[in-house]
Amino acid sequence: MDVSEAVAIRKSVRAFLDDPVSDEILAELLTKASRAPSGGNVQPWKIYVVNGESLTNLRAHLAASPPVEEPGYEIYPPKLWDPYRTNRYELGEAMYATIGVGRDDTAGRMEQFARNGDFFGAPAAFFCYIDKKMGKPQWSDLGMFLQTFMLLAEEAGLQTCPQEYWTVRQNAVGEFVGAPEEELLFCGMAIGKADPDAPINTLESKRQPLEEFCTFV
Ligand SMILES: Cc1cc2nc3c(=O)[nH]c(=O)nc-3n(C[C@H](O)[C@H](O)[C@H](O)COP(=O)(O)O)c2cc1C
Repeated sequence: MDVSEAVAIRKSVRAFLDDPVSDEILAELLTKASRAPSGGNVQPWKIYVVNGESLTNLRAHLAASPPVEEPGYEIYPPKLWDPYRTNRYELGEAMYATIGVGRDDTAGRMEQFARNGDFFGAPAAFFCYIDKKMGKPQWSDLGMFLQTFMLLAEEAGLQTCPQEYWTVRQNAVGEFVGAPEEELLFCGMAIGKADPDAPINTLESKRQPLEEFCTFV
């Protein structure tokens, strides 16, 4: 698989098969992903893997924790504006359409949102943290690391879903993984083999055309 193919086939998967993922493959992918660039090579990512028994224990811990907490950061700016607002809206509509959840089906939407808290059934996952004192440039470094990981996972026959959702479970997760007070949870990463029969995995997110986001000066 070349890089173009990995970029083209990677997509966020929201239903996984039970097939286990070994700690060895996760360690290998995370080691390779750490070749991601970061400003000044500070490498600000802090990763906590939950797999097998620890993921089972995390699920039990979450079941006994508040379903929604104050987020650790603002996921989107307030009152998102166009074209970003429309991009987000269209993604949501397309996603709910795959599972037959209508615009007014608040319960159905809440149910799908809550599936984030089960990593969409993934057999493996990690949480990505950053030191609270780090700034915007270091947050962007996390993205480099995460996308590198996701592409490498595709090469290894695994699919993923990055999840900012976890910021609304930040205290429950922090207690479980033992993250120190100075670290902030950015996102989770669901990892496993995509369920090929799950309607939600038919979702193909759109992209703006080049001329919408790029200016050749
Ligand atoms: C940092 C980050 C956090 C995300 N958080 C969530 C999430 O909490 N739940 C979810 O279902 N998708 C989440 N996504 C997936 C996005 O919705 C998805 O990347 C986007 O719609 C583009 O689709 P694609 O990944 O299939 O190409 C997240 C993506 C990123 C990059």
